[in-house]
Amino acid sequence: MKDTIDTILKQYPVNDRGSLIPMLQGVQKQEGYISKEAVVKISRHLRVSRGTVYGVTTFYSQFKFNPPGRNSIKICLGTACHVQGGDFLLNALQLEIGIKPGETTEDGRFDLERVACLGCCAIAPVMMINKNIHSHMSVIKIRQVLSNYA
Ligand code: FES
Repeated sequence: MKDTIDTILKQYPVNDRGSLIPMLQGVQKQEGYISKEAVVKISRHLRVSRGTVYGVTTFYSQFKFNPPGRNSIKICLGTACHVQGGDFLLNALQLEIGIKPGETTEDGRFDLERVACLGCCAIAPVMMINKNIHSHMSVIKIRQVLSNYA
């Protein structure tokens, strides 16, 4: 990980604040998330505070602070899914796997993210695990669906 971050940082000039977002994107692409180590290294490289790096990272939802799980769950809370009970699904899912959106389970099995629309509103409510869409989801289907992902 250390070498990867250093390699990415070397691609950008020192003390150039305009490079912050491209650097974060580069780290996220390679590592899957923005680690504390990456925040420290970026802040040193750009001569900005860690708070500045954290602030920008948290502002953009594309950046994650936790390593991705083996399976990535996206729960849709767009309008169509919301009116079909998306919030209930999210609550039940959180109870089932013990994490909130933006987190990864301790065993690394799942990470969880909430999204605005997965583009398949006609089969709402939906959740996506990796690249698989699970349609017409309900609270009672959650455990069965999750059992297919190790
Ligand atoms: S609102 Fe959920 S798929 Fe569009």
